[in-house]
Amino acid sequence: MTVAVGIDKIGFYTPELYVDMVDLAHARGEDPNKYVIGIGQSKQAVIPPTQDVVTMAANAAAQILTPESKADIKMVLFGTESGIDNSKAAAVYLAHLLELPSDTRAVELKQACYGATAGLQLAADFVRARPNAKVLVIGADIARYGLRTAGEVTQGGGAVAMLVTADPQILALDDVSSYHTADVMDFWRPTYRTEALVDGKYSTNVYLDFFNRVWTDYQAQTNRTIADFSGFVFHLPFTKMGRKGLRQILPSATPEQQASLTAAFEASQADNREVGNLYTGSLYLSLLSLLRHGNLRGGERLGLFSYGSGAEGEFFSGVVQPGFDRGFDDAFLTQQLAGRHAVSVTDYEQIYQEQLPNDGRDAHLETGNVTAPYYLAGRQHEQRQYRQH
Ligand code: CAA
Repeated sequence: MTVAVGIDKIGFYTPELYVDMVDLAHARGEDPNKYVIGIGQSKQAVIPPTQDVVTMAANAAAQILTPESKADIKMVLFGTESGIDNSKAAAVYLAHLLELPSDTRAVELKQACYGATAGLQLAADFVRARPNAKVLVIGADIARYGLRTAGEVTQGGGAVAMLVTADPQILALDDVSSYHTADVMDFWRPTYRTEALVDGKYSTNVYLDFFNRVWTDYQAQTNRTIADFSGFVFHLPFTKMGRKGLRQILPSATPEQQASLTAAFEASQADNREVGNLYTGSLYLSLLSLLRHGNLRGGERLGLFSYGSGAEGEFFSGVVQPGFDRGFDDAFLTQQLAGRHAVSVTDYEQIYQEQLPNDGRDAHLETGNVTAPYYLAGRQHEQRQYRQH
């Protein structure tokens, strides 16, 4: 008998600051409804200089790890496209901060917003071969397009941490998936840039085209149809993007199922709408949002569409497990989002410019008010100084 493998626990971290999209629209001379309805975002995480992908990942992972589970982690796969070193993996810094055992593999994976999905699939195959092992999979990013750009309303940041195990509590992954790669210049970030370059409209078309391809191929591989799914979860660079993806396939569903899939989508976008784009983590924040706000029951099948510009798309699926709500801390996550505070557009613009300078100078960050368990205190001798409360 093949063992069920998948997502056992999910943690999510985003910093305590956000900018309201109505305020941003006013500052940019746009109709607020363009941002809130047209793009589909209400708030956007503002990332203070004391958080980077390593600290955000640590803050997410700490929520789901125990001394017992740490001892079983045999691999750390860190998906990010805003890494802090071109050589050393963020996963190695993370493993150290989390005090994971040294008999673990730790590597970083990059393919735009697809990195965490690559990690999840590699982790699942690893655990299928070694059912006693656990793998920590991370999707952590800071989405930066630049002040006063068209992409500005689709920024954000945060980290999702997933524990992949045999006999998972949350989602048992089906061992079939469909993926597609093509060399496409829709979004990229050369090593000399801190902000992404993007051909925005083109990127949305490539996203929809890739979704169509992999969904069609998945159905051919499995003989499943839309009727076999209780929900579709999308990579959400902004929530309207997933809404467009869902609209592409809804006509093939019955009216009743169209209503229930639409309700599931509303649940799946609720938390992303409050945070913005997490790049690699966005699909998994959307999954968490559906688990938290939807009406799922054990045994229901979900479809997941992962998209990383450049480009890679994958459609895969999994079955929700009975008692899935024990795999995350709902009350903590609600409090984390509700406990954030708004900054003005002026303050957001200032914080946006405050990341560590790109020239290797020593830097000491103001950390007196930091409440996050893991944080960055600055840089000395070209080494980031990580701290823990
Ligand atoms: N009330 C309601 N809706 C309004 C409105 C109003 N007053 N004014 C405009 N809108 C609607 C528009 O009709 C449009 O809706 P549709 O797309 O459904 O037609 C929507 O608001 C956006 O308007 P525009 O297309 O005019 O917006 P824009 O030109 O300023 O840019 C964008 C939008 C291209 C998405 C831009 O924000 C961008 O470049 N974002 C970054 C790229 C991105 O996220 N791409 C997604 C695919 S790539 C990916 O997924 C990987 C990744 O994470 C980056």
